[in-house]
Amino acid sequence: MKFFLDSAKADEIRYARDMWNIDGVTSNPRHIRNSGKPFLTAIRDIAREFEGTGKPISVEVNPHHQSAEGMVEEAVKLASMSPNFVIKLPATESGFRALWTLSERGIRVNLTLVFSSIQALQAARLGATFVSPFVGWKEASGEEISHLVQEIVTIYHNYHFKTEVLVAAVRNARQIVEAAVAGADIVTAGFDVFKEAFDNPYTAMGLKRFSDSWDATAYE
Ligand code: E4P
Repeated sequence: MKFFLDSAKADEIRYARDMWNIDGVTSNPRHIRNSGKPFLTAIRDIAREFEGTGKPISVEVNPHHQSAEGMVEEAVKLASMSPNFVIKLPATESGFRALWTLSERGIRVNLTLVFSSIQALQAARLGATFVSPFVGWKEASGEEISHLVQEIVTIYHNYHFKTEVLVAAVRNARQIVEAAVAGADIVTAGFDVFKEAFDNPYTAMGLKRFSDSWDATAYE
């Protein structure tokens, strides 16, 4: 299973790359705003961190686009900036249409803001590279989430779709594990989610106990 970092902050991205061997990055307009940089500067800086690695970086088109043509035009421009870029399009009617055109042109798309299995099925039919079900948002609204991921994984398996299931808007370690149990290909989560997930307090407690014993023991 692959782990992507959901962020556009350079310090977080470098840490996740160098300490956790992160497999890719996802960004969105909110993350870009939080980076404090202009959009193009932010995505160029992320691309530089992964130059020559082939690791995917999801970059979202302007969310104000209404037409497929507008999305395609911007997607083509962004895709030409870095071979790592995978273009994020929303799961709207225009987004699906743009996905179809871009797939035919060999431009990789991450279909984002996915909340149902039928949206994921249509994304795969039209050639999406990644599909991003937003599990955290669904769970926050009281909906059961592991079933959604399981269903998408089963559909893709049944029809041998190559689209990878990228579980997004993940809020805690439990959701990462549930995605893994359901057979998702990738999870993208924020910096703090991974940090807290990897740092278990029982490990620190055990290490303290062993350190105390070590200090009370002669070495030779
Ligand atoms: C994923 O690709 C999205 O960037 C992300 O998970 C969106 O959700 P959030 O900003 O609420 O975490």
